Formats: sequence, C-alpha cells, structure tokens
Amino acid sequence: MKLQAVKGTSDILPEQQPDWQRVLHAAQQVLGGAGAGRLTTPIFEHAEVFEKSVGDSADLVVQKEMYTFEDRGERRLTLRPEFTAGVMRSFIQHGMHTRPTPVKLWSTGPIFRAENVQRGRYRQFHQLNYEMVGVDSALADAETIELLYRTLTVCGLTKHHIKLGSVGDPDDRRTYNDYLRTELTPLQDRLSPTSRERLRLNPMRVLDSKDEGDQQLIANLKRPLEMLSGAALEQFEQVQSYLSAWGVPFDIDPGIVRGLDYYRRTAFEVHYHGIGAQSALGGGGRYDGLLELLGGPNLPGVGWAIGIERVLDALEQEEPRVAAVEGPALFIVPLDDAAVAEGAALAQRLRAQGLRVEFAYQRRNPGKGLRDADRLGSRYAALRGDDERSRGVWQLKDLASGEQQELLAEDLGAALTQAPRAL
Ligand code: HAM
Repeated sequence: MKLQAVKGTSDILPEQQPDWQRVLHAAQQVLGGAGAGRLTTPIFEHAEVFEKSVGDSADLVVQKEMYTFEDRGERRLTLRPEFTAGVMRSFIQHGMHTRPTPVKLWSTGPIFRAENVQRGRYRQFHQLNYEMVGVDSALADAETIELLYRTLTVCGLTKHHIKLGSVGDPDDRRTYNDYLRTELTPLQDRLSPTSRERLRLNPMRVLDSKDEGDQQLIANLKRPLEMLSGAALEQFEQVQSYLSAWGVPFDIDPGIVRGLDYYRRTAFEVHYHGIGAQSALGGGGRYDGLLELLGGPNLPGVGWAIGIERVLDALEQEEPRVAAVEGPALFIVPLDDAAVAEGAALAQRLRAQGLRVEFAYQRRNPGKGLRDADRLGSRYAALRGDDERSRGVWQLKDLASGEQQELLAEDLGAALTQAPRAL
C-alpha cells in the first residue's frame, strides 16, 4: 500500500517555510505593533463551543463541515473549524474582561472543515486570526480592517483588495431574510439544492451561491445594504470615511454575506485575483452578542481570519519573487577519512558563531564535493586533504567567483562573516 496524505490536507515543505514565516512575522509586527497579544488555544474544544456560536444555520453546520467525535470519556469534541469561538471561550474562562479595554488577541494554527476539496479549499488548513473585544465603534471596525490590509501588505502582497459591506443589526437581517423568503420561495424548485437548504435556514447565504442558475434568479433582488436601518447604516458610512482618510483601498460590496451566523453590522473580505475561484484571502466582521451568547459579559467584538495557504498561493503570483530558500554559507568537503571528523568539528564551531554550515559525512573527491556544495546553493566550500592538514589550513573556494584561498580554521569564521552573502 502506498501511503498518502489524507485528501484535503497537505505537507508544508521546507522551501515553503520562508513564506510561512513571513506571514507570522507580519502578524507579530503589525498586530503586535497595535497592542495585540498572541493567544494559543487548543485544537479541540467541547463541541458546544462551536455549535452554540456559529449558529444552527451557519454553513459549517448546514453542510455538516465540523469534525465532531466522541472521545473515550464519551465527551463530544470538535476539531476547531475556526478560531473565534475558542478565543471567546478562552476570554471568558480567563476573565479577560478585567484587562484594560480593548483586548486584542491574535492566534494561528490548523483549522478543520470537512469541505469539498478544490484549489484553495482544504480540510485541514491554517488561519491567522485577530480579535478585538470591548469597543463597538466604527473606529474599531476601521482599525481592524486596516490591520488586515497592512498585515497582507507586510507579507509581500501588492494586489489584495478589501470588499466592505454590512449585514445590519439582527432586525435588519430578519427583515432582509423575510424579504428573500417572500421573493424566492415561489422559485425554490429552480434553486440549487444548497441554496434551497440555505433559503430554509439562512436565506441571506443564497446570495453567495456560485451556481449560475441561482445567480440569475437573484440578480434583480435587493442586497442587504439596501435594507440597512439607521444605526447600522451610519456606522457603515463612518467606517468608509475612516478607511478613505487612511488611504486603505476598498470596494463596497452590497451583497457581502458571511458564512457564520454571529455577524452584526460591518462585514468584510479581502480578495486576490489569480488564485482560482476561492479568491478570499480572509474575512471577518463585527460580532457583538457572541460573548454573551457563550455565557460571558456583554462586550462587543470585531475580528478577522486569513487563510495562510491562500496567502502563500497569492505570494507565488507576485512579481518579483524573493528567493525562497538560501543555501548554507559553507559546505565542508573532506578529501580523506581524517578530514571527515575535522570537518564536523569545524562545522559545529562555525554554527556556534551563527553561520549556516553543512558538511559531507564521507570523504569526497573534489569534483563531487564541489558539485554537492553547488546543489545545496552554498556560497563557499572548504576542502581539506593530507596536504592542507600538514599546513593546518582549509582551502576556501568561492563558488560564485571560483576564487580560492588558504585559511587557518580559526580565521574561517571571520572570513565568512565579512563576506557579503555569507549568512
Ligand atoms: P471564514 O471566512 O470562514 O472566517 O474564514 C477565513 C478565511 O479562512 C477565508 O477567507 C479563507 O481564506 C480561509 N479558509 C476558509 N475555509 C478554508 C478552506 N476550506 N481551505 C482553505 N482556506 C480556507 C472565519 O473563520 C471567522 N472566524 C473569521 C473571524 C474572526 N470573524 C471574526 N473574527
């Protein structure tokens, strides 16, 4: 039997790690710089944490996307299908409402959804998540969106764009859902099966259908933005004026709807062209009422999550690309058996000075040794045989220029650190 990774999961290979690190560095820099602390939550939680929060009609539940199982103690557990609910559970459990307001938290790690797999849509993927609890103003929404935009810019993206909308207050949602039911129920036989199910549970989500037939049926219907009440509309307009003043580019998307039930008012997504149908790099919005629903204090919240795999795909589309992996500064080539152990000891000394050094584990002839160094992308090779040993030196070869010089072992570190690309 040939072992394969489970469909919809993937390995993150060494050459992909530098881009991965960029996302984490960007989070640290941008979110840390705005006062957010990192919170690590467990990968599994009691199922009710997610069942309560995402809502009966949310896509996760509608499409049975949660990985829920019973453990040996007959506890119902769920592999997290998003961060927000777990972060709120942690917020409540650790009494974080007593901390100075607002409380800003970022998290990252694997997320699990039993989805239909396609490009950009996996069953185990990774999110970078940000939440801000305690402020309900348009300023908080706008700052949250600016942080999303800038995090992606610092990752190295230049072509991402924000789509801004509002799902209104619960009353607005109800009015809009009633309107959709009235309009679409007579036509429901012509809707796709998913949309028919959504019409029953969360009509708004019909707008998000990718089905062409569905799109034709809803083309002339009103969008949620057209039915916003006073307060939600006012907040929506204020968010726009902050973003414009700060130079954060955005488009208004009157039909923006989100797949989770907890959203109120401001809702947004960030998209990128060129990564296939799943073009949303991230999304989020305001979720006032969620903490209370989970048994916590009545505090408002706003946040977002980005899909790291999709960000990596987008980074691949960016020009110019920065070289993903750098080779070692030095590759050590022992030309006889005695030089093997000497090479290993030298490597350890140089690594202790912070240099990246690799060596051959068996003696090599010079041609093969230099080819190995080249394949690894090493800048220098150090060779030693009997002749060099008798003089206590290593032959240092610059693989780019071909230049060669003899150096004492103790001088190698300094020579490499002074070299332009040595680290
Ligand atoms: P979401 O829109 O469900 O929001 O997911 C956020 C992002 O995760 C998506 O925009 C996408 O980039 C990525 N993503 C979602 N599903 C998949 C998948 N199957 N494969 C790969 N990537 C995927 C949330 O999860 C909310 N909790 C965000 C939030 C935080 N709202 C408030 N705070």
